[in-house]
Amino acid sequence: MKITRGLFLTFEGVDGAGKSTHVGWAEELLRSLGINVVSTREPGGTKLGEKLRELLLHEPMHLECETLLMFAARAEHLKAVIEPALSRGQWVVCDRFTDATFAYQGGGRELGYEKISVLENWVHPNLQPDRTWLFDVPLSVARERLNRTRDQDRFEKEADSFFERTRDVYLQRASLDPDRIRIIDSTRTIEEIRQELKEDIEYLIRFGDN
Ligand code: TMP
Repeated sequence: MKITRGLFLTFEGVDGAGKSTHVGWAEELLRSLGINVVSTREPGGTKLGEKLRELLLHEPMHLECETLLMFAARAEHLKAVIEPALSRGQWVVCDRFTDATFAYQGGGRELGYEKISVLENWVHPNLQPDRTWLFDVPLSVARERLNRTRDQDRFEKEADSFFERTRDVYLQRASLDPDRIRIIDSTRTIEEIRQELKEDIEYLIRFGDN
């Protein structure tokens, strides 16, 4: 019997955009609809990846090191978790993936896209998310939500201009690939957002493997 590959779904957005409250909910919804799902995150998702996450979020480092470590964690994550799950037919829900590197390191930190594209082509030449939900809010809203966070990490402490650049890259990527990246207006209520996600998830269950 041929096993159909599972779908790869990612959540993205600047810090404070409100995506995280929806990740666990989406996982539960998929389960309740009969989908065998693995939920994970980046940076992280493996024992080694979580150690790298700790360094990435708290240890000062140069941009090159930060970018390479993001992809090092991703390579491990792909081999150990994401690719095996998809091959078994499980769906993978991942809180951030390579779009975050383009947005944060490429845009926020102004590395540009060329080097990130090289790493992307090396680490996952044949895999892209099947659907990406980009949680989007104006910077003032993200900032207000972020200011409620105590113990901010290296990224959360960044200046407004960093988040403007990060958000701009996310939005550019969404406009270049609207079939994959769906912009979720995250200024709306949780219920409204979940209704939109639910409709999209039901669509993916019906037509996603075409
Ligand atoms: P999180 O708070 O959504 O779990 O994400 C952790 C931080 O890591 C967040 O500030 C964004 C950042 N990040 C990057 O800068 N580049 C990446 O490639 C990834 C996956 C995350």
